[in-house]
Amino acid sequence: MEEIEKLPEMERGKALYDAKCVSCHGEDGKLGSSGAKDLSQSTLTDSEIKNSILYGNENGMPPFKDQLGAEENLDLLVAYVKSLRK
Ligand code: HEC
Repeated sequence: MEEIEKLPEMERGKALYDAKCVSCHGEDGKLGSSGAKDLSQSTLTDSEIKNSILYGNENGMPPFKDQLGAEENLDLLVAYVKSLRK
């Protein structure tokens, strides 16, 4: 986490995504491993994305509440997730 904290904001969302989310969702959000939803097709609002990330759900999305470090990392991650929409 310390490494990621030092990156400029723009890159931090991607770095967090690469570290925590790529294994299931893939670089472009479309991988769908372990039943993960295609993030490029997602229509969730910011607050719904935040809740998914923080608390996960019973369908296989894990909770990341205790893994994100600084509060603002969540916002950067939400912005990055939305950037995957085409
Ligand atoms: C262990 C695999 C796994 C990892 C790691 C994972 N996810 Fe997921 N994610 C899922 C699954 C499975 C779903 C679909 C759950 C469902 O069907 O409701 C999901 C759903 C989501 C959704 C909801 C999409 C929608 O339109 O309903 C978002 C947003 C999301 N993930 C973001 C993330 C982010 C950001 C990370 C990294 C912090 C992450 N996920 C890491 C498995 C994963």
